[in-house]
Amino acid sequence: MKNVLVLYYSQTGQLERVLRSLMQPFEGDAGVRVHFQPIVPERVYPFPWPVVTFFDQFPECVQLVPPAVDLPGLDESIDYDLIVLGYQTWYLSPSLPATGLLKSRYAALLRDKPVVTVIGCRNMWYRGQLAVRQLIDAAGGRFAGIFVREDQGTRAETFITVTVWLLTGRRETWKGVLSPAGVSDAAIADSARFGRQLLDGLHDGRIDRGQAVFDGADSAPVDPHYVLTEEIGWRGFRLGAGIVRLAGGPGRWQRIPLLGLFALCLGIGIVTIVPFGLVALAVFKRSARYQRWLDQQIRYLQGDDLPRAG
Ligand SMILES: Cc1cc2nc3c(=O)[nH]c(=O)nc-3n(C[C@H](O)[C@H](O)[C@H](O)COP(=O)(O)O)c2cc1C
Repeated sequence: MKNVLVLYYSQTGQLERVLRSLMQPFEGDAGVRVHFQPIVPERVYPFPWPVVTFFDQFPECVQLVPPAVDLPGLDESIDYDLIVLGYQTWYLSPSLPATGLLKSRYAALLRDKPVVTVIGCRNMWYRGQLAVRQLIDAAGGRFAGIFVREDQGTRAETFITVTVWLLTGRRETWKGVLSPAGVSDAAIADSARFGRQLLDGLHDGRIDRGQAVFDGADSAPVDPHYVLTEEIGWRGFRLGAGIVRLAGGPGRWQRIPLLGLFALCLGIGIVTIVPFGLVALAVFKRSARYQRWLDQQIRYLQGDDLPRAG
């Protein structure tokens, strides 16, 4: 009997739906047992988010400052054969509960185990996944693949729809004008296709041998136009996070003016960095060094650096 541990945190239940659809093919398999294990942060994150609380998460997210988390009811006596780590991106970084887990004593669960990452987010997950792969390595885990579901709609649309969703809880106010917020039902249902690939890889030994089970261009496609943009944005975030944290820890009123400034810069950044990134891309495109960096980033993000069977 093989045991699969699915670790996740989800505010609206969206990521949990993605994971349940992904793991659905495992249900009919008598040789595998799947254990769904929610990550429970000590401090509850509100949903919908009050505006100040929403921005107040930014510095600790970006600097990977771990909150205390628990895995209630976890059976630690089981020697799991595969870990599936579900997380969402917050501020181009892993969400705080995910960072909390990967920096807690529970990170020992990953030691010498294959770890597949599953992301459900708006569409800016590249930088967060780089951080998560480093944290998996630091925990002694073996990265085994990535599966991503992004919000429906264009980048401009999702910027509006996700913000309204997170701050008001409303997903479907856009009839005929914008797509509903979040990942589409069709994309969630399609996750089962990748679950079958994962199950095959578990049975035929590819997971154990450290070989790829997904085709990264299908399971976690990366848009090359935004790799550099995220890198630039993330560096700006790091700088901003360091400045805000000079005013103290989460919840301190002294941070509010700096967070207001950050929100302003974020708004300006989104309308300037994205076009800047695209212009920079047009310039860099001719550079062989940039192309090498980009190709390597994409392979790593999509998990295509894993060896293939045969
Ligand atoms: C504080 C915060 C910051 C977020 N930042 C990002 C981001 O940088 N990139 C992104 O693609 N999505 C971002 N999102 C959206 C989430 O990744 C995710 O889609 C949404 O929170 C729903 O996830 P859940 O209901 O499964 O928890 C953010 C959400 C929150 C709450």
